[in-house]
Amino acid sequence: MVINFVYTACSSLCPLTTARLARIADRLGDRLGRDVFFYSISVDPERDFPEALKSFSSAFHDGPGWKFLTGKPEDMAKIYYALGNRSRELSGHMNDLILGNAGSGEWSRNSIFSEEDTLLLEINALDHSADPTPAQSVSGSDFLPIPETGEHLFGKLCAPCHTIGVGPRVGPDLLDVSGRRSAEWLAAFIKKPSDFHMRHDPMAEELAQDFPNVRMPDLRLGDADVADLIIYVDSVSRRVNGIVASADAGAGEAAHHETHNHQN
Ligand code: HEC
Repeated sequence: MVINFVYTACSSLCPLTTARLARIADRLGDRLGRDVFFYSISVDPERDFPEALKSFSSAFHDGPGWKFLTGKPEDMAKIYYALGNRSRELSGHMNDLILGNAGSGEWSRNSIFSEEDTLLLEINALDHSADPTPAQSVSGSDFLPIPETGEHLFGKLCAPCHTIGVGPRVGPDLLDVSGRRSAEWLAAFIKKPSDFHMRHDPMAEELAQDFPNVRMPDLRLGDADVADLIIYVDSVSRRVNGIVASADAGAGEAAHHETHNHQN
């Protein structure tokens, strides 16, 4: 099983960690719900009633094997303590994943920011019904010194919720977003989206209507990182548009009246 802590009013890490878990869930496929189970435990039982957790979870994943749990505050307090979440502040809750095999009594922790492959290896190592995993087991985060380029940052912090040219995921598709928004708006929004929601920015309100169950989190990025990310999104957009344009040109010669729906 994989356990993490969340709360639905969280405007920073929980939506990101949940989206990362959703990608792992996708990669586990039908093993989730059969061999592997996810439990996301609310640290805000006073406000996170089942309905709130249900709509939050629906933004990320639909399918068996992943439960979002809440309960009476006094019961939950015992669970937090037993699982090692000792923070008394909501935003200071534990962000690590707890991985365990209750049958064999093996437990470990992992950073939700480990590479996805690392997390899958760790999960497989505890799932004795899985194919034997490669001998080397890697643990902890940052075991590979990968430079924090726009591409790497995007993969880690944005790709769990956004694609570029594939369609909406947890958040909108970012293809050509620089064409839709001013450079200023874009950089400021990526840096602190909560400001835009707080002051009811019309574009942010419109986006929030399209994606009602989760808000884009504040990821505390520096200006240089934001600039790198925008350069990366622009360059992938150009590449995607180039591919689409040349495919259309090719298709145009072969069949004049075919229409293409690039969303699918
Ligand atoms: C947990 C999911 C999540 C993560 C992680 C996330 N976003 Fe978002 N993003 C959203 C949602 C949802 C919206 C829609 C607006 C809102 O609800 O705040 C959005 C909106 C946006 C927009 C506005 C799009 C438009 O059409 O104007 C941009 C740009 C954006 N995100 C960039 C990023 C970048 C860059 C990262 C990584 C640093 C990132 N987001 C990480 C969920 C996420």
